[in-house]
Amino acid sequence: PRVSFVHPKGESQEVEAAEGSTAMRAALLGGISGITADCGGEASCATCHVYVAEPWIERVGAPGPDEDDMLDFAECERRPSSRLSCQIKITDELDGLVLTLPESQ
Ligand code: FES
Repeated sequence: PRVSFVHPKGESQEVEAAEGSTAMRAALLGGISGITADCGGEASCATCHVYVAEPWIERVGAPGPDEDDMLDFAECERRPSSRLSCQIKITDELDGLVLTLPESQ
């Protein structure tokens, strides 16, 4: 599945994500700057914060309870579309997913 990351200034980068992997891993492997993922995917650092593009919000789903707590510590404003990208599991259904990066992590 392909996942696009949109930088705050608007440029977009597309990466190939492995099914069963996470959006955070795909970003790191794809050399996307703007995702630091300090905790390595444990939903405990909030430095993999992304905003899910509107048409994808429902399909990606809501954050789990731990993720929900951690999102309150994200450096940039939390929005209804906020997710931790390490908690977004990549499936074929998410092919074409668009995630916007916050200004900072
Ligand atoms: Fe730390 Fe996602 S990598 S919360």
